[in-house]
Amino acid sequence: MNISPSEAIDALNALLGEGGVVAPSQDLSRYAVDWAGDRHGLPLAVARPRTTEEVADVVDFCHRHRVPMVAQGGHTGLVGGALPDAERPELVISLERLNRVREIDPLNFTLSVDSGCVLQTVKDVAAEHDCDFPLSLGAQGSCQIGGNVATNAGGLNVLRYGMMRQLVLGLEVVLPDGRVWHGMHALHKDNRGYDLKQLFIGAEGTLGIVTGVMLKLFPRPQDTRTALVAVPDVSAALGLYAQARRSCCDLLSAFELIPRACLELAFEAAPDLPDPLETPSPFYVLLEITASGPVDLDAMIEHLFDSGMQAGQVLDGVLAGSDAQAARLWRIREAMVEGQQRHGEHLRTDIALPISTLGDFYDDASRAMATHSPQTTVIAYGHLGDGNLHFNLLPPAGLDLAAKRALLHALETELFAIVERYRGSISAEHGIGRTKQAAFLDGLSELERELIGDLKQLFDPDDLMAAGRILPRVARPATSPQPQE
Ligand code: LAC
Ligand code: ZN
Repeated sequence: MNISPSEAIDALNALLGEGGVVAPSQDLSRYAVDWAGDRHGLPLAVARPRTTEEVADVVDFCHRHRVPMVAQGGHTGLVGGALPDAERPELVISLERLNRVREIDPLNFTLSVDSGCVLQTVKDVAAEHDCDFPLSLGAQGSCQIGGNVATNAGGLNVLRYGMMRQLVLGLEVVLPDGRVWHGMHALHKDNRGYDLKQLFIGAEGTLGIVTGVMLKLFPRPQDTRTALVAVPDVSAALGLYAQARRSCCDLLSAFELIPRACLELAFEAAPDLPDPLETPSPFYVLLEITASGPVDLDAMIEHLFDSGMQAGQVLDGVLAGSDAQAARLWRIREAMVEGQQRHGEHLRTDIALPISTLGDFYDDASRAMATHSPQTTVIAYGHLGDGNLHFNLLPPAGLDLAAKRALLHALETELFAIVERYRGSISAEHGIGRTKQAAFLDGLSELERELIGDLKQLFDPDDLMAAGRILPRVARPATSPQPQE
């Protein structure tokens, strides 16, 4: 930085006006911690631009004065990517005021929005026009669409609609030097050379700050069936999944694996929730099928249940008879995440395996964890239809924080080695941020490391934007000339 923090704050105040900057003399806590709450950052200050031009002005200012910066959305990324650095204060650029819905085109099935729009708002606007924006996740009431782009968010409906990468047609991005890339195309086909927007999707804010997004819409589902099915084991759940895709003509929009331990966590967090089935089962599947036209969803579900019973894959099940009942089933899925949170520091993962290997992987990994630490509780659930598990670990109560962290780290290393053996991914959904960086770097080939480093160098040679996320911070003198005032 070639400017003092107070000079920087004065200059940003002049750029952004009333309400545009939150200074350290004010309460910055909201911007220093995320939903997980187990890590704290240290913002230099918070800039709250309202327009793309203001974002560009702030970034240009930071570039000229070498102020480290990090874009921040709804605080729900869960890998520490958007938290300001705890040692080297960064300017947080919050997109919370950049939240206009720009334009919907129902005939083109597109919607353009500012990146600070909350996902739920985007979904509501689409629904008002009889369209659907299908990205669905627990944090949708607070996460922002720009964060969804930056992290290539996934969630519950990926098996049918894809991740954010498949749902974005165009982007507007402020580059680390303050220039704006205008790529808000509303084209469903466009094959002109490199697909630049894809570089920014999943880049976790390291190559630019997304300010506008052109989203792809779908017809709004008019008919939905939601069911919770008791299954004996993971292999049975996998067999049921393959059958469900066939029986339900690929209209399956969610297929979530939920072990009994997760149900118990949900009841801890939400004691009013009824146990949906009379007899407890070791595993459950929460599935949903949706359609927007005249198809017989009941016939599909019946066919699926019948064949599942005959194959011994289905032990019992409940089909939601109303929207309220369906919402209660989905509430279990939400509450079990809150339930884990109540247990304090734990290991969160979001691994992926080839779907066909999930049963063997589940058994191998559970056995390895139990051998290493019999008192640790495995909470392994997730998006089975995507081969994506949250293989999470609750450490034994009673350990102090340092011992907990050391144990979880050792278990994570062992788990990731098994993932590697099964040719899986250590991060299928939440991205690298800072918490998965060491494991990510371990798994890169030299060539991959070089290409990723070159890419970052091309966009952000001074390593000012979201430095230390995905790749470690660059420890070298800055390369660009000193700014001229
Ligand atoms: C979930 C989030 C945390 O699936 O990814 O529960
Ligand atoms: Zn998930």
